[in-house]
Amino acid sequence: MGGYRITEISFLMACDKTMTITGREADVPRNQGGGDFRITSQEVQIHDLKGEIAALKERLKASEERFHSLFENTPVALFTYDKNGNILIWNKALEDILGLPEEKIKGSTLFKTIARENQSERLAGMIQSIFAGRWLADVRWEIMTDHGKARYLAMSMFPVREMGEMVVFGMAIVVDITEKKQLEQALLQTEKMAALGTLASGLAHEVGTPMNVILGRAESLLRHTQEEKTAMGLNIIIEQINRMTRLIKNLLTFAQRKPVERKSVQINQIIEKGIELVEQHTQEKGISVVTELDDHLPSIWGDGDQLLQVLFNLFMNAVDAIPNGGEIRVKTSMVREERRKGPRMEAHSKGKQMIEIVFQDTGIGIEPTHLYKIFDPFFTTKPADKGTGLGLAVVDGIIRDHGGEIKVISVVDQGTTFYIHLPVG
Ligand SMILES: Nc1ncnc2c1ncn2[C@@H]1O[C@H](COP(=O)(O)OP(=O)(O)O)[C@@H](O)[C@H]1O
Ligand SMILES: [Mg+2]
Repeated sequence: MGGYRITEISFLMACDKTMTITGREADVPRNQGGGDFRITSQEVQIHDLKGEIAALKERLKASEERFHSLFENTPVALFTYDKNGNILIWNKALEDILGLPEEKIKGSTLFKTIARENQSERLAGMIQSIFAGRWLADVRWEIMTDHGKARYLAMSMFPVREMGEMVVFGMAIVVDITEKKQLEQALLQTEKMAALGTLASGLAHEVGTPMNVILGRAESLLRHTQEEKTAMGLNIIIEQINRMTRLIKNLLTFAQRKPVERKSVQINQIIEKGIELVEQHTQEKGISVVTELDDHLPSIWGDGDQLLQVLFNLFMNAVDAIPNGGEIRVKTSMVREERRKGPRMEAHSKGKQMIEIVFQDTGIGIEPTHLYKIFDPFFTTKPADKGTGLGLAVVDGIIRDHGGEIKVISVVDQGTTFYIHLPVG
């Protein structure tokens, strides 16, 4: 026998799909036709090629769709580009990050979409590196979106090669790190606050000392004068000095956030002290202070001075909110979350025993649009000579430092209720 016996031939079609032809008895004579060969068997059986191609097409399509859906829906932004920076394909996540619709990316270049004028040169250098076969990991990149907002990106770029040889295009993975960056900036802000704290304590010392002297003199003069006009003037001086002292104290607490100096404290005693402190103001305005204090409260582990500041700030706000005549009601109790009225408190869910202070006034109430801002530093609805907007920011900070929580419910023209939870120490 001078030929090969072939039972199976497979060959590659142009579109990369392999199809198989099987022959049961295929004899190929040697050297026939200068290297060509002929299938002599009558029984060559060709599979149903049409059907197979259709099935393969179907599979390819499904696979393409799977890949497309993965590419399109991954939360990581992806795109490919050529050596001139033309964007070839990209996904939805990229559109979201850049804040650009599909039409604006289609046919555009990286230079137009992600680079500002002064970034072009750097970008060109990066693309050149990729096409020279290098990888660039975690490149920090800042973009301006159409909405005028800066976004911060971390890009990893790498070359994609054909058959392991030529770089045919570049690929990039982009992660939006704007939030992380904002957190960084918030930390910087904290640093600034620390600087403000140093400034405030300097101020407290430099201004506080002469203010004490003025206060002492004014009080002494007040005791000795018989003149009504002079007395009135001196009273104004004393009142204003007290106001400045409070402002500096608030600024100090706010900016410095002194660490909590923990001792065993009785919250009811602190409330009584607070009432004493503001007595003059409540009496002047015809406000009655009603308490409902639970005698059996356990003590808490906290900073008495800071908690007094909390009460003082709440009282002063209530006094400001009650125009003429009204009531401030302060109630303390041990709480069981499932039994109580009032807003849901997250601190409670940590399973600790909590004391609740309910601080209620019959004042003007708070507009719903203001409600979520009242704990922000510098938010105030009061005239510049009255409000600093620091009171509740300080309150919130102190309560949180104690592991507690404060919430508010308010109805315009009816009044405001603050709920404070403090863990038992
Ligand atoms: N008891 C209250 N009744 C009505 N509004 C209040 C009350 N407490 C606080 N507010 C509102 O919250 C704002 C912020 O309060 P706060 O931080 O103490 O700053 P300030 O008292 O200097 O304005 C107030 O300007 C006021 O609009
Ligand atoms: Mg206030």
